[in-house]
Amino acid sequence: MGESMKGLKRTIMCGELSEKNVGQKVTVMGWVQRRRDLGALVFVDLRDRTGIVQIVFGEEINREAYEKAQTVRNEYVLAVTGTVMLREAPNPDLPTGMIEIKGESLRILSESETPPIYIKENLDAAESIRLKYRYLDLRRPDMQKKLMIRHRAAKVVRDFMDENGFLEIETPMLTKSTPEGARDYLVPSRKFPGNFYALPQSPQLFKQLLMLSGFDKYFQIVRCFRDEDLRANRQPEFTQIDIEMSFVDVDDVIELNERLIQRLFKEVLNVDIQIPFMRMPYQEAMDRYGSDKPDIRFGLELVNISDVVENCGFKVFRDAIASGGSVRGINAKGCADFGRKEIDRLGEYVKTYGAKGLAWIALKGGEIKSPIAKFLTEEELNGIIERMEGKTGDLLLIVADELDVVYASLGALRLELGRKLNLIGPDNKELKFLWVTEFPLLEYDKEEGRYVAKHHPFTMPMEEDLELLETDPGRVRAKAYDIVLNGEEIGGGSIRIHDTKLQERMFKALGFTMEKAWERFGFLLEAFKFGPPPHGGLAYGFDRLVMFLTGTENIKDVIAFPKNQNAADPMTSAPSDVDEKQLEELGICIKE
Ligand code: AMO
Ligand code: AMP
Repeated sequence: MGESMKGLKRTIMCGELSEKNVGQKVTVMGWVQRRRDLGALVFVDLRDRTGIVQIVFGEEINREAYEKAQTVRNEYVLAVTGTVMLREAPNPDLPTGMIEIKGESLRILSESETPPIYIKENLDAAESIRLKYRYLDLRRPDMQKKLMIRHRAAKVVRDFMDENGFLEIETPMLTKSTPEGARDYLVPSRKFPGNFYALPQSPQLFKQLLMLSGFDKYFQIVRCFRDEDLRANRQPEFTQIDIEMSFVDVDDVIELNERLIQRLFKEVLNVDIQIPFMRMPYQEAMDRYGSDKPDIRFGLELVNISDVVENCGFKVFRDAIASGGSVRGINAKGCADFGRKEIDRLGEYVKTYGAKGLAWIALKGGEIKSPIAKFLTEEELNGIIERMEGKTGDLLLIVADELDVVYASLGALRLELGRKLNLIGPDNKELKFLWVTEFPLLEYDKEEGRYVAKHHPFTMPMEEDLELLETDPGRVRAKAYDIVLNGEEIGGGSIRIHDTKLQERMFKALGFTMEKAWERFGFLLEAFKFGPPPHGGLAYGFDRLVMFLTGTENIKDVIAFPKNQNAADPMTSAPSDVDEKQLEELGICIKE
């Protein structure tokens, strides 16, 4: 058992000590990073969340403390009192390296077994072990730093929103399941056997109701739940900065959020972000980058060559266009010397995005190499090269397919080339923000055989496209916007419909009967009979923002207790089975 800390008070944190403290008597408390026994002297590095300080124990300094120090091991918890002295041999690698503490008294507050992971920066241990022993993983300084930045970011957001007149209001976690969106996490009801609450995918409907109640400017840093397939930037429970405002249009929401982002990056990273950000309509983003969240740190834009190859000799191109598709390409500048193996690899890469192949034209000094040259006349070949602005040394990469496949595969190929050519990557510190605007209101869902809301069913169409809602719904653009940073969607939102008639037209376009709409969203439709103000808002993926602020590409790094790729928690073993009795109370019977 450890010793008591009775009568002792910590006077300073380990990392706060410097030359300024020389001569002072201090008490520090923390974990043993390491111990070195040099016979007459024992050196202990003590760690807390502010840093590490060296303590020297010796017979001459204090015999009892010296003898105890010989028994301490890594991760023991100590309280040490002593005088701060200048070091004989300063350690320039340590922020506290100019000084050390003379160990005049030592209490071992707690002992530790040898931890299964080493507590140090940039640990290279298996993720499964790190997650199982997350509390130890979180002892590591780099992990602690990330969570401190997260705290700071949340604080800056709260301060900014408060200064701008926003109220933070909590919304329920046990709510009603609504369709449209990701899969819900369901919670069975005991009082109503066979009925379920859903955990919120976002506070969307509640924040709209708060506008109706007159709260005018709302925000919340709030947990959201979505049962989706996980990726490096997706967790089943994640945090949004959720915002809603009344009496606003698109520009008002954008303007506020640009100032919020500017403030956040200034206060957390001391980086100056230029505002306003660039804005780009969705269609332009797709045409130029093959993506609705383009990384605009580099070029390599898509080029449409459909009209050039419409009647050319290569059947694949001709057929793609004849059947309503498109032929587009990317000029990989200066890549003509890519080997066959590399080009084949890129061909395999685009196939994972649905492309059937990748045609290429390499413009080597004076000579044109291409597997499709044999199908084309010289004129046709030159037409393609001219349109794609091909110069000696360039490699033209072309996909012919349905338009979605062309966008998806070339959009991904563009990013792959960007990584390969080091135009983007972990060392690129540039921050390029972009608003993608004028999203389509609806998209056709082949599986469901109907249009579904691209954002959500309460998104306001653009006034100029309103009449298309019944005649050509796929062409209606919405007052919806995403905020994109370096090719990641960090947030999105829209102006909402506040007019009952328009909302009914929207539900019709979605193929909902009013009956079904009432069944699902009745409370909102009912509420909107009573004077809803014009309103709109946005939500950030807070975790994703913190990923940028901390420079990590793994969302788990910025969440204290994340789930693994299977949405499980190896530390607590959630999800787990439950007692028969619990199931009985809920009226639930598990199917084998
Ligand atoms: P949306 O669904 O676009 O909008 O979500 C907003 C932002 O949340 C982040 N995000 C996620 N982050 C981590 N893990 C996930 N599984 C995950 N899913 C989404 C993204 C995304 O941009 N109610 C609307 C907002 C509004 O209209 O005001 C909404 O939830 O960064
Ligand atoms: P083939 O004659 O079928 O070997 O095709 C010649 C070249 O065209 C190969 O480099 C294929 O990768 C490419 N190719 C095949 N289908 C497509 C397509 N849909 N779009 C672009 N290139 C293609």
